[in-house]
Amino acid sequence: MEPKLLIIGVTGNVGKEVASLLSKRAVPFKAAVRKLSSAAPQPYRTDVYLDITKPESFALALQGVERIFLIRPPAISDPRYFEPFLQEASLAKVKHIVFLSLLGAQTLFFVPHRKIEKRILKTNMKYTFLRPSFFMQNLNTTHLEEIRDDHRIFVPAGQGRTSFIDVRDIAEVAVRVLTEEGHENRAYDLTGSEALTYGEVAARMTEAWGIPITYANPSIADFKAYWKKKGFPADMINVMTGIYFTAKIGAAKKVTRDLERLIGRPPITIGQYVKDYRSIFGWM
Ligand SMILES: NC(=O)c1ccc[n+]([C@@H]2O[C@H](COP(=O)([O-])OP(=O)(O)OC[C@H]3O[C@@H](n4cnc5c(N)ncnc54)[C@H](OP(=O)(O)O)[C@@H]3O)[C@@H](O)[C@H]2O)c1
Repeated sequence: MEPKLLIIGVTGNVGKEVASLLSKRAVPFKAAVRKLSSAAPQPYRTDVYLDITKPESFALALQGVERIFLIRPPAISDPRYFEPFLQEASLAKVKHIVFLSLLGAQTLFFVPHRKIEKRILKTNMKYTFLRPSFFMQNLNTTHLEEIRDDHRIFVPAGQGRTSFIDVRDIAEVAVRVLTEEGHENRAYDLTGSEALTYGEVAARMTEAWGIPITYANPSIADFKAYWKKKGFPADMINVMTGIYFTAKIGAAKKVTRDLERLIGRPPITIGQYVKDYRSIFGWM
């Protein structure tokens, strides 16, 4: 029998953790990939080709599927790309779609996440919107080099606070929502348990690793110049600048209890995260 769950974004931050938890819990699922690999098959996981921008890839991937975990790949900012996929999912009798959105999306009419939420609401599928705050894992992906090589966090967020969340906690919620009843037609605001400044994050790193990490708090001009030198496209630099400006003015500090209520334990703290990811930052 075909697995009833389809997970999109399985090579990304959140999807990778969702796939790993489903496998650990022996829940069969289809993993949507853009490149089918020749690696040995994994128990409980069936890889299927799916590209959100290629409607010809939808039918096979959706066969037998009842629930979908959907993310918006960061490179796709035009919500119209999701329309054909959502229509075909509805017609294929998918009952429930779990969408990784963004904290505060319901009030941010201009973000693609809200536009995708609205498109999902127009279908006949049940929905659950997971609206997380800023990922801790941005520190070991986007900001890895500056922390590992220069021993500093280089973001223009002033003394603004951010309620960082660990993607492993988001995945825990996603798996519950995908495998339990009772989450249909709901939206969850998911954050960590505390809102920290980047100076406090640097202090937690220093404490856990025994290596002094500082918070540089550059000007916006210096921040943009740094990423331009790294070869980043201007539109991506502008998105990043906007995200840190939001943190600077205090709009990223909201702390909610939805996560703890859903998973029955406190969220992973930044102190725990920096310990767990020590080797990823290059410290043995
Ligand atoms: N970072 C944050 O702090 C934060 C906070 C709140 C919300 N979010 C939202 O979270 C989402 C990103 O999640 P993430 O960090 O887990 O993703 P990610 O690590 O950027 O990975 C993106 C995933 O999407 C897949 N993908 C790319 N293009 C695709 C396509 N055309 N069709 C199907 N799959 C495609 C990629 O697969 P390939 O291997 O094929 O490229 C990859 O698995 C974004 O919408 C972002 O706005 C992020």
